[in-house]
Amino acid sequence: MLKAAAAALAAALALVVAGAAEAQEEAPPPPHQTWSFDGVFGTYNEATLQRGFAVYQQVCSACHPVTHLYFRDLEKIGYTEDEVKGIAAKYTVTAGPNKEGQMFKRPARPADHIPGPFPNDEAARAANNGGLPPDLSLITLARDGGPDYVYAIVGLGFTKPPPGFKPIPGTYYNQYFAGNHIKMPPPLHPGAVKFDGQPASVPQMAHDVAAFLNWAAEPNLDERHQTGAKVVLFLVVAVIVFYAAKRRIWSRIPH
Ligand code: HEC
Repeated sequence: MLKAAAAALAAALALVVAGAAEAQEEAPPPPHQTWSFDGVFGTYNEATLQRGFAVYQQVCSACHPVTHLYFRDLEKIGYTEDEVKGIAAKYTVTAGPNKEGQMFKRPARPADHIPGPFPNDEAARAANNGGLPPDLSLITLARDGGPDYVYAIVGLGFTKPPPGFKPIPGTYYNQYFAGNHIKMPPPLHPGAVKFDGQPASVPQMAHDVAAFLNWAAEPNLDERHQTGAKVVLFLVVAVIVFYAAKRRIWSRIPH
């Protein structure tokens, strides 16, 4: 009994200490951006998502995987079956074993996962000063602020450090990253990606890639919003019908 109480106390203490450590590392909340998929009636914009995929592919995919995405998922953001085949064919995946028991390389197909840049976490850390570039396919669900957080990290956070900030070698100052030392070099530069032949600005690329990653994490948001809208419409109609019925019934009673 006493032992259990002591264990509970120790656990509570550990929580308090962890909480204090976290509070120390806290970054300001990411400012809210405007998203086409905001609110109950919000929906994804295919052109935005395709541009966001281009940013992921041409910039972020050098370090971050999107583990949960298959190439064929890209059909849901407006690519045709043939376009998806073409996108997949540019990647190489390891498949097998063949009849001789050997693994072999082949061009990717729509049914394959989009392969990440590193064979394992150790290789990823070795290439990034010990930092692990996390899987981005669920990042908007995993972090407070969702797409606002992604936007803040890559689009706003790499500013001049405040006076007195002590840089750690191999890290960069980022205002919105917990602790402010991030092992990711600023990934976006004006014109890093071209949209329709035009060099894109940092805010535009940050917006589009954050929207794309939100779609990767919540691909069914559009249907959910549509269902929500139908339920609201049903309730409105039901209220009107019941109100009319109530008036009719009560009109028979003299008052
Ligand atoms: C050169 C490699 C590299 C590139 C390119 C890169 N990142 Fe990163 N990224 C990292 C590393 C390493 C970390 C982990 C940082 C740490 O733990 O200090 C990271 C962390 C992040 C985080 C914070 C994750 C968290 O845990 O909260 C986000 C968000 C992010 N990257 C988004 C992006 C996006 C979006 C792009 C493309 C526009 C991108 N990154 C391009 C290496 C990279």
